[in-house]
Parts: sequence; C-alpha cells; structure tokens
Amino acid sequence: MTRGRFISLEGGEGTGKSTQAKALADALEIRGFKVHVTREPGGTPGAETIRDLLLSGSDEKWDMRTEAVLFAAARAEHCAKLIRPALARGEWVISDRFIDSSRAYQSVNGELSDDEIMDLHRVGSNNLMPDRTFILDLPEAVASKRAAARDRGTSDRIGGRDSDYHQAVMANFRQFANDEPERVHLIDASDVAERITENLVTKLGDLMS
Ligand SMILES: Nc1ncnc2c1ncn2[C@@H]1O[C@H](COP(=O)(O)OP(=O)(O)O)[C@@H](O)[C@H]1O
Ligand SMILES: [Mg+2]
Repeated sequence: MTRGRFISLEGGEGTGKSTQAKALADALEIRGFKVHVTREPGGTPGAETIRDLLLSGSDEKWDMRTEAVLFAAARAEHCAKLIRPALARGEWVISDRFIDSSRAYQSVNGELSDDEIMDLHRVGSNNLMPDRTFILDLPEAVASKRAAARDRGTSDRIGGRDSDYHQAVMANFRQFANDEPERVHLIDASDVAERITENLVTKLGDLMS
C-alpha cells in the first residue's frame, strides 16, 4: 500500500485556512481519497489539552521559549497518534497549521532561530514534513477584519498580538514559499473560496497518482 499524502494549510488568522481545509477534504473525497482534517495546536486529546494551555490567558502567561516547546510537544503527540498512523494506512491528512506556523510565529523579533525551532521538531516529531504546504496569502488588514467579524472582536492569546507582529508572521510565511518552492506554494486568498479550492486541487495533481 502506498503512503498517504500530508498537506498543511498555513497563513495568519482569518486567511481562510479552516474554510479551505474542509472544502479541500470534500474535493479530495469526491476523487476517492480517505481524508482526515485536523488542526494545530491540537488534533488529538492530549494535544488539544496543550492547545488550551497555549491559547488561553494573557500574552505574558508563557515565555516565548516555553511557548515554542509546548507547540512542539503538541505536534509530537499529533504526529505520533494521528498523522503518521493515517499516512501509514494510505490515507490523506490535511492539517490546519503545522511546523511552518511555529517557524513563522516563534521566530518573530529573533525570539528563536529557525534552526532551534527545527531542532524541537526533530526531537518531538522525527522531522515529519508535509508533502505540500499552501500559504493562504492575504494582506494582514483584510485577514484581521475577517477574523474580527468571525469572532465578534474577540481573539485568543496569540491572535491578540499587535498588527506589527502579525505582519512579521505573514512576511515569514512568504519567505518560506520563496525558499522552498516545491513544497510551499503561495495562494492568493483574496479570491472567492470556491476558486481557491479549485486552485489547491490543481496544485495537488502530481500527488494524486
Ligand atoms: N475566500 C474567502 N472570501 C471571503 N471570506 C472568506 C473566505 N474564506 C473564508 N472566509 C471567511 O473569513 C473568515 C475567516 O475564515 P477561516 O476559514 O475561519 O480562517 P482561518 O481558519 O484562517 O482563521 C470566516 O468568517 C470565513 O467564513
Ligand atoms: Mg481557523
């Protein structure tokens, strides 16, 4: 049996990741694939407990290094209990955020280097990388408006950081697409949702055989 495919959706809050994760899964299931939609931090009971720790409370609750280690711990659990077993069964996994979110967020202002974040990933998750990553690219002002409309103005511990922080995150994501063009594709997220999904399916054509 061939191994399944692992797709991650990345981008800032409000860029359409959750919308596209579900729509893409539907489009792949129509094509006959068994698909799991999951998310980070979280995806398994233990990792969802870590998610609650990470996303609730005040921004000062965790030092940035503690935060990075907690993300890596949640991901380790997610890889071991959900993602690797599903891929081994030949099934597809779509994760709403994965390692590139850690790289984009925990490196802002030089808090951690990319090497340090990847070291945590090596220890925790044996370096599992997606077969393809889509960065949903939207100007930060548009994305934050969409997120605010969805959440009626509330935000979680990380979403509540200022606009400079979120612009730096978005710039980091764009850099990844530049550095790793085969794995990481930048997607125009200002389009209507259905057209974005069609674009994603087209960009997975080579992974479907
Ligand atoms: N292509 C799109 N155009 C306009 N609005 C969108 C689009 N995709 C998603 N939305 C809306 O924007 C908000 C944020 O989308 P969501 O999928 O929750 O983003 P994320 O998971 O990246 O935070 C939701 O209210 C969603 O319905
Ligand atoms: Mg979401």
